[in-house]
Amino acid sequence: MKSLTALLAIIAPVYAGLRFPCSELSVQRLDPVVEPGKTPSSHLHHIVGGNAFNATMLGDVGARATCTTCQMAEDFSNYWTAHVFFKHPNGSYHRVPNLPVSPLLGGSNGAVGGITVYYTQHDLSTDNLKQNAVKTFQPGFRMTVGNPTNTGKPQVGLRYQCLSASGGRSFPELSDFPPQACPGGIFTTHHFPACWDGKNLDSPDHQSHMYNTITSDGFVAAGPCPSSHPVRMPQVTFETVWDTSKLNSLWKTGDPNPYVWSFEGTGAGTHADYMFGWKGDALQRAMNKSECFYDGCGSITKQPMATANQCSIQNTVTEKTEGWLPALPGMA
Ligand SMILES: *[C@@H]1O[C@H](CO)[C@@H](O)[C@H](O)[C@H]1NC(C)=O
Ligand SMILES: *[C@@H]1O[C@H](CO)[C@@H](O)[C@H](O)[C@H]1NC(C)=O
Ligand SMILES: *[C@@H]1O[C@H](CO)[C@@H](O)[C@H](O)[C@H]1NC(C)=O
Repeated sequence: MKSLTALLAIIAPVYAGLRFPCSELSVQRLDPVVEPGKTPSSHLHHIVGGNAFNATMLGDVGARATCTTCQMAEDFSNYWTAHVFFKHPNGSYHRVPNLPVSPLLGGSNGAVGGITVYYTQHDLSTDNLKQNAVKTFQPGFRMTVGNPTNTGKPQVGLRYQCLSASGGRSFPELSDFPPQACPGGIFTTHHFPACWDGKNLDSPDHQSHMYNTITSDGFVAAGPCPSSHPVRMPQVTFETVWDTSKLNSLWKTGDPNPYVWSFEGTGAGTHADYMFGWKGDALQRAMNKSECFYDGCGSITKQPMATANQCSIQNTVTEKTEGWLPALPGMA
């Protein structure tokens, strides 16, 4: 994340929402949004956040959970994506481990793998609070972005970047896995839509209660919300680093990209799930402030990552996900 650090150095002062790390909570075939109650769900996920995570999640998650792997101690939300695997020419699969997004600002180092989460009010450098007050999600709210069955047109905001050995990100962002080995790993970004219909905590496809006004990649200001989805919400973004460094040497020159998602789809099928779980009005308090830039502010509580890392759950679905596997979990 060199480019971001450089950006922060030249833009001062900056006021732009929250950015914080969440360590890995579980790697498991569960999906309480898309396949509630199904144990196991169809493909493997990489999950961070609160310990209320389970096959079925109803009601006020923030009131039920007792710990979180996220730096913001009042955030019991769960955030997850599919998992990246290396597909060996011999037909075996190996899970690609995660690294935290680096560098983490404000003393937040110490995350173990996981996802870095953003809630931005406007764009990366301003909150625009006067023009554009954002409302926050309500207990029970959930949404997804992207679709594992998408094999066609890439979706804006769902992107891949190649990391150099020193962690620098390649530009422009790509709509599929990078075509060459990335020494520092593969960086994926999932931007969620920011306009809500104001009524539904979910919808049959887990997407139509939200509307995306974004037409270009990166952290950009969302355009005005349409009358069908009039409520401006925070723009939620996940950043994930897949550490390919120990697997790249198995990618022989001339062979196609060996990295696949856990549903064995193409890069266009990348997707992510969000289950709101902030305690009480903690997220609204943060979104109402300018000074919560990046690592939080006085109105919300931060915990040391050493504490966050102690939060764990017992996996409901137990199957082998480590080492060389003859097939992707659930795909045999
Ligand atoms: C998940 O749900 C099952 C079945 O209701 C329950 O036994 C288990 O304790 C739950 N796990 C967590 C982490 O809440
Ligand atoms: C494929 O290659 C890996 C790495 O060398 C090895 O560990 C695994 O057993 C191989 N799988 C098969 C089916 O030969
Ligand atoms: C956030 O700001 C809105 C608009 O000014 C206000 O109505 C609301 O009470 C505030 N909420 C919190 C939790 O500060």
